[in-house]
Amino acid sequence: MTDSPTYVGQPLDRIDGRLKVTGSARYAAEFRAPNLSFATLVAASIARGRVRSLVTTFAERAPGVLAVITAANMPRMPRPSVPPAGDSSPLLDREIRYSGQIIAVVVAETHEQAQYAAELVHAEYDMLAPSANMERELARGFEPNTGNAPPSSKRGDVQSGLAAASTRVDAVYRTPTYHHNPMEPHATVAIWNGEDLLAYDATQGVSNTAQNLAEQFGLAPENVRVVDPFVGGGFGCKGQSWPHTPLAALAARVVNRPVRLELPRRQMFFTVGHRPETRQAETLGSDASGKLAAIRHQAFNHTSELDDFLEPTGNTPSMLYSCANVEVTQHLVRLNLGSPTYQRAPGESTGNFAHETAMDELAVRLRLDPLELRLRNYAQSDEKTGHPWSSKSLRECYAAAAQSFGWSQRSAAPRSMRDGRWLVGYGMATAAYPANFRPAGAKAQMYSDGSVRVLCGTQDLGTGTYTILAQVAADTVGVPISKVRVEIADTRFPDAPTSGGSCSATSAGSAVLMACRALRGRVLAMALADEGSPLFNLKASDIETRDGVASARQAPARRMSYVEIFGRYGKRVVEQEAFAEPGRERGGGGGAPQGTEQAAKGGSGQYSMYAFGAHFCEVRVDADLGTVRVARWNAAFALGKVLNAKTLRNQLQGGIVWGIGMALEEKSLLDERYARYVNSNLSEYHVPVNADIPEIAIELIPEKDEFVSPLGAKGAGEIGITGSPAAIGNAIYHATGRRLRELPITLDQLLV
Ligand code: MOS
Repeated sequence: MTDSPTYVGQPLDRIDGRLKVTGSARYAAEFRAPNLSFATLVAASIARGRVRSLVTTFAERAPGVLAVITAANMPRMPRPSVPPAGDSSPLLDREIRYSGQIIAVVVAETHEQAQYAAELVHAEYDMLAPSANMERELARGFEPNTGNAPPSSKRGDVQSGLAAASTRVDAVYRTPTYHHNPMEPHATVAIWNGEDLLAYDATQGVSNTAQNLAEQFGLAPENVRVVDPFVGGGFGCKGQSWPHTPLAALAARVVNRPVRLELPRRQMFFTVGHRPETRQAETLGSDASGKLAAIRHQAFNHTSELDDFLEPTGNTPSMLYSCANVEVTQHLVRLNLGSPTYQRAPGESTGNFAHETAMDELAVRLRLDPLELRLRNYAQSDEKTGHPWSSKSLRECYAAAAQSFGWSQRSAAPRSMRDGRWLVGYGMATAAYPANFRPAGAKAQMYSDGSVRVLCGTQDLGTGTYTILAQVAADTVGVPISKVRVEIADTRFPDAPTSGGSCSATSAGSAVLMACRALRGRVLAMALADEGSPLFNLKASDIETRDGVASARQAPARRMSYVEIFGRYGKRVVEQEAFAEPGRERGGGGGAPQGTEQAAKGGSGQYSMYAFGAHFCEVRVDADLGTVRVARWNAAFALGKVLNAKTLRNQLQGGIVWGIGMALEEKSLLDERYARYVNSNLSEYHVPVNADIPEIAIELIPEKDEFVSPLGAKGAGEIGITGSPAAIGNAIYHATGRRLRELPITLDQLLV
């Protein structure tokens, strides 16, 4: 990329926007195939026990039915080395471990016929009472389980830290089960051609889905192709494979025709994950000045009988502030529910709610401004790992957002600000999320008309991946963005990571940057080596490329367009592939940037890499009715290089809207007798609507981070939700004097 980019950083509209608003963008369920048939899943209505009998004859005789597949007649499948999460192996089982578990698949000529026949499958069960209450199970004892993330962290001595503390907060915070509810339901179109399987699958990771399918069907990786050019939202529930995907492929094999399987909204609540309930006990101790002396965080979350999903709430309390004595422990509680999974900032958003609420409580005890308390405990390095930050501009975020919001106007006492019947409250919280970067590949091609094509196996969840990759490519090669075509989310393209952990922009972006740099170098090399060219004998670094023209920096009259270069050397296409991977500064094998002190030091993981931000919000609580309105929001984030100011702000605003939903509206309600979610639809599972959302002002703080990735950008998909629920709860406390520690905060709690 040039020093003065034309496109990178600009608030460009999404290049795929027109396709989306005209309905031309095709989502997984919209792909057609000749002779397509339709599958519907039959789900268990009990949560624990065994299918005693499954009567399929009525369904089999229903109009249009091609097959009814059950555990009894299912073809044998190889056992995958790593079973997909939430799955039982074999795929259809008589043992029932959660309500909604798939017990049969009906395939028919039409979607409606499949749905109708599915209603005719009759199951009888031997039912056992399910475990569905985390507190009750906790009372019986818990498993000290490790799950999928480091569960514990310890430094110093919390006991003596607390003994020395003059001020203490000791409280329990709870977050409920949440469901993701992307607009696009999970869907798979499976097409077999001999031993080759093609799947259009709604997924955050085409490579991961393909790998799972290959293992489940015992196929070589090259026999499986997964494609998903547009994703209608993921938020984590499409971050791993769930049983419906292999079942669609299995059904296609059984009926020997292509099969489409799309989950209805209700099934989106049972077999594709959710954010687990958490119970977080947190103890803080500080000296009289507010300096933290001890942090203890003990957390529980539920998981299923099939998986060990851990919601890592303990990470935030262990790294967000400076504190010598920290102890984090996390445990799982097994319930008869489908497996939980990643949901937008898994662990960071929930853990932040507990920790940043506890910090607010500490500020109240100390009679200290909540922002001042944070500044007094500012972490100069990551004390969890002992590493310096690759970059941290949190002070600047606090200052900018506090100023824009007017934090200095806050009167400290709770219930001291009022506007007629509205109690007014100001709240703030810190946002933080790891700046992830994972290995990614990309291919860049240039054609004789000077156009550029970029191929990368990454995904666009609706976030703007197409657009930022085009911006990076256009600037790096030096062509107008209209000359760049981006193709993604196909396992035929170079591998890129699952779009999770906010890693896609920086991972796929770095791969595209490197592929385009290499492509530019290769094309220019032809002219630089040619005596007859105006660019002869110049170095690639002496050349500026812009608008499809390469010119000598010092002598702009020496110039050649890409079209002229291709014409002169008779080339039709030149291509380069590149692979971006974390360097040693991250603990990867790729080596630190050459010539840096860190490269000389060697060793693994020399920096701790996080994105940071700050939220300030105003809430208004109706003094009589307890209704909460979020009235104003100012946030500031520092995210390294800004690739597209518009899509970036959009991501952050989306995260904050999620935070508002998490704080005030969303909750999956369980009927514990049957371990079944009862509000499994979009009318009873409340999510924010436009009327719930104020103007959300986002400031982007300039930040340079040379270690985070070759591109220098930090991801933004998840940081927005971190901190926003706590900021709201803290503002509600300020408005009302009521400290509510269980989400969502609803008016019934405020009326009591
Ligand atoms: Mo995100 S919850 O890491 O897909």
